[in-house]
Amino acid sequence: MNNNLTSVPHALNASDRKAHYGHSGAVLWFTGLSASGKSSLSMALELALTKLGYSCYVLDGDNVRKGLNVNLGFSAEDRTENIRRVGETAALFADAGLICITAFISPYRKDRERARKAVGPMFHEIHIAADLATCEARDPKGLYKKAHAGELLEFTGVSAPYEAPERPELAIDTGTISVEESLKILLNYVVKHIPLNHKCPGPDVHLG
Ligand code: ADX
Repeated sequence: MNNNLTSVPHALNASDRKAHYGHSGAVLWFTGLSASGKSSLSMALELALTKLGYSCYVLDGDNVRKGLNVNLGFSAEDRTENIRRVGETAALFADAGLICITAFISPYRKDRERARKAVGPMFHEIHIAADLATCEARDPKGLYKKAHAGELLEFTGVSAPYEAPERPELAIDTGTISVEESLKILLNYVVKHIPLNHKCPGPDVHLG
């Protein structure tokens, strides 16, 4: 890091932001295999939380890799850099007072631990824990099939590792629990750990 940098203090602190949004900032860090349900659940949770009055935003692997991380592939080094950038970005969202839901495979424990350090106590690791056989059977994008055929290299669960969390704040076995039930578990978790002090949506908020 450059030595000639001086932090510039904000004119707002965390409690000012909390008063503004009605809740603390946080990162809900989803991790799990491809096709485990991270993206669907994160988007459903974003909508449900917004309807309740939370301010939140999803950072999703497939989306972020089309922009911010367009120069990264799927080697171990590139995944580490992917998760480093996302960890720092999520930390900024949480510092801004928002709930940032991240949906990345994030297969390496050390990378998730680095994201946890970047965010601090507002970090919640959530294992979307469908097992490999279930994910392979779902295979919505046909990627497991390609990986087994040798057309897609370094694919998580087939030819690249996935290190499951040892002590996540929450784990949901989306192989056996329905999307609706999983969403309920997530909502209960958020309402309990990141309480909402007031309802924020104005009269113009129309959410499907
Ligand atoms: S991570 O491992 O670096 O966290 P990330 O979540 O950003 O991965 O991206 C995963 C998405 O990229 C998958 O949902 C899938 O659509 C796509 N993808 C393409 N190639 C691979 C690969 N080799 N391994 C895993 N996912 C891949």
